[in-house]
Amino acid sequence: MDDIKKQDGMSWSLKDFNYSVPEHAKRFGYTVGGVTLIGFVLLIISGIIMAFFLTPTTGQARQSVLEFASNPWGFWLRSFHRWLAEAVVFLIVLHMSRIIITGSYRGKRKLNWFFGIGLFVITLTFLFSGTVVKWDQEGYEAYGHTIESLGMIPLIGASLAKFIEGSAVVMRMFVTHAIVLPSLLLLFLIPHMVLMKLNGLSPLPGKKTTRTIPFSEHVKKIFGWSLVIFGLISFLAMQFPAVLYPGPFVGAEITKPPWMFLVLYQFEDWFGVISLLILPLVIVLGLILLPYIDSGEDDYSLVRKIVVWGYLIIVAVFIIFIIHVAISPPVHHLMM
Ligand code: HEM
Repeated sequence: MDDIKKQDGMSWSLKDFNYSVPEHAKRFGYTVGGVTLIGFVLLIISGIIMAFFLTPTTGQARQSVLEFASNPWGFWLRSFHRWLAEAVVFLIVLHMSRIIITGSYRGKRKLNWFFGIGLFVITLTFLFSGTVVKWDQEGYEAYGHTIESLGMIPLIGASLAKFIEGSAVVMRMFVTHAIVLPSLLLLFLIPHMVLMKLNGLSPLPGKKTTRTIPFSEHVKKIFGWSLVIFGLISFLAMQFPAVLYPGPFVGAEITKPPWMFLVLYQFEDWFGVISLLILPLVIVLGLILLPYIDSGEDDYSLVRKIVVWGYLIIVAVFIIFIIHVAISPPVHHLMM
């Protein structure tokens, strides 16, 4: 069964897929990408099940979610999907952090880094559109912030805002969440994995890869960590239900976005809704320029040290902002 004819008449066997990878592929930091991949598979499976029960209209979305979560399985699956989504964002930030600290975006891995940036943006858009689809107060306020910030984009802003505005908003967000983004995810993930295989895993900083292990050892570690992490999340999903706010109440601004958007909220407090456009743009531009700013081969160069310490300081500041906004009362930002 597992023999596939090679061009030269030789047969492929499963052994061919158990190729050698560097020994450090067993370390947690080098398995996070794989764990994220499994997280996405679980998100898609749980999402497809929930899609059968959602009525994606402004009038019925919240009620259909409430009914779905009124039985124990629906209650658990909805919470599992939500906490898993937040965990996957955390895992991606961990994955990116590992790559920035080891400098694994340099040289032949630059293109894979760019596909990675695309995956990061797609993942955050997944979480945002998922928040809106349930059309409760949290979703309504996320929608309000989007309409107001999109409207500020010169030339195309008004028509973009017009496209998602109004009664079709939940349907359009659902199509984005369940069809457009999964397709884009595949479009970026396949080359990400192919380039990963072609480039091989980057060596440890300052070291040459000497010892190798079979790929299956790496996969075992990925499944081991996935079992622990997603097992914990499925337990938490029973204890802590994903919130479904009342509403939406027009003009009220009483909720705060999920933790990864609280940095944006802090800047919005200071600079207004326009920062919802500018800050993401600055972050993405910074990530794109990184392989050009830090392109040298020396793992211990001054530039490398500045990049690593600079990144760790930015992360520390963002964590302070997230905690500060989380413990502060909600602020009214919108004109709506
Ligand atoms: C859907 C999200 C993502 C998935 C499923 C994913 C998956 C993977 C996997 C399985 C690897 C192999 C090694 C490892 O696990 O560390 C990898 C490597 C890599 N990823 Fe990702 N990734 C994702 C997002 C990202 C993001 C957001 C970036 C950067 C912005 C990125 C940049 C890279 C780079 C540069 C490598 C090569 C690392 C090396 O050779 O050491 N990935 N990715």
